[in-house]
Amino acid sequence: MSENTLILGLQWGDEGKGKIVDALSENVHAVCRFQGGHNAGHTIKVNGKKTVLHLTPSGILHKNVNCLIGNGVVLALDALNEEIVELENEGIDFNERFFVSNNCALILPSHIKIDQVRDKTESIGTTGRGIGPAYEDKVGRRAIRFGDIGDQNILEEKVKSLIEYHNKILVDIHKENKFEVQDIFDYIEKYKHLYEKYSCDSYEIIERWSSDGLSMLFEGAQGTLLDIDHGTYPYVTSSNTTAGGVSTGLGIGPKNIHKIVGITKAYTTRVGEGPFLTELFDKDGEMLAKRGHEFGATTGRPRRCGWLDLVALKKTIFLNSVTDLCLTKLDVLDEFDEIKVCVEYSDNQPIYKTFKGWGEPTSQAKNITELPKLAQDYINFIEENVKTSISILSVGPSRDETIFI
Ligand code: IMP
Repeated sequence: MSENTLILGLQWGDEGKGKIVDALSENVHAVCRFQGGHNAGHTIKVNGKKTVLHLTPSGILHKNVNCLIGNGVVLALDALNEEIVELENEGIDFNERFFVSNNCALILPSHIKIDQVRDKTESIGTTGRGIGPAYEDKVGRRAIRFGDIGDQNILEEKVKSLIEYHNKILVDIHKENKFEVQDIFDYIEKYKHLYEKYSCDSYEIIERWSSDGLSMLFEGAQGTLLDIDHGTYPYVTSSNTTAGGVSTGLGIGPKNIHKIVGITKAYTTRVGEGPFLTELFDKDGEMLAKRGHEFGATTGRPRRCGWLDLVALKKTIFLNSVTDLCLTKLDVLDEFDEIKVCVEYSDNQPIYKTFKGWGEPTSQAKNITELPKLAQDYINFIEENVKTSISILSVGPSRDETIFI
């Protein structure tokens, strides 16, 4: 019997999903991405070496694990190519274990331009990777899909009409230069080998893995509070980052998602604009940023930092039917005299419960009983407050700094 696990972020992204997916990949047949694109930045540290993955599922570092990019992902061919070349240069083999759904909508250079130009006035603080415009075209039924690369006639027709549409936006509305259709053909042609090597009918693959009783990990990108429907709209990304996104973005029904691991940092961060009730503007915020190395893995932007918000966490646990919690970056709190947690809101202001800091390192702990008593109290309080057990604790960036409870 296959046991499929969904791993997703319960905050505004950057919760440390990459590390946890990597750690749990060892015992699964495949890891699949189902939404987002190369706006994601999943950082994995093994034997002191840091790898940041933007598109490739985080299982790729395990040589026997298959990796699938599902239809819900928006695909930038150049970014994918660059990532594959980089990883192959490090000796990682993609042959016969890496698949990309034919139904993925492509992100073209014109999407990226539109995203960047628009964000100058809309000020969402996007990653500038063309994510929003690419999803717009997908929903507008005019996207170029990965599988279109296999049919020159369809491709020519679709690229021509899409670029004409993009040029209207760029030239008429934003007074920017237009894109040449030929340049976009040349761009796609340059990466045609990706289609020839990795394109697949993802339904066939997933159905086969399921029938064979093989287990899969579904790797979420961004976080629940960035969900297009349930997040802090309009300061969100353009995909469903919540559990429902797996079913649509991969083609697998809810019955086949057996375990839902929700990841939260022991505090909170956010990149880009938008509300953030527990944000800190003082020394504590600076210390979180410094100790947590809180800079975006994709854009390098400094992340905004604040205390953990249990009101928001309860909501995101419910939205995703989380079965297991994973608390990451506990070690970042090691040197604080006091640690606060938001337990309710009053007039849109956070009400905090204050904990005494444990003031000693946690990274060496191999099980929960080796953690300082005050750290255990902090963890127990979170579990009781949100009524969900924590089954994974991360106390450092490396694979081995993980405690399974
Ligand atoms: P977009 O996804 O590039 O359209 O950006 C929309 C919002 O989501 C912005 O606030 C970004 O900073 C945020 N965002 C997108 N991807 C990530 C991520 O992987 N981690 C954290 N924030 C993200």
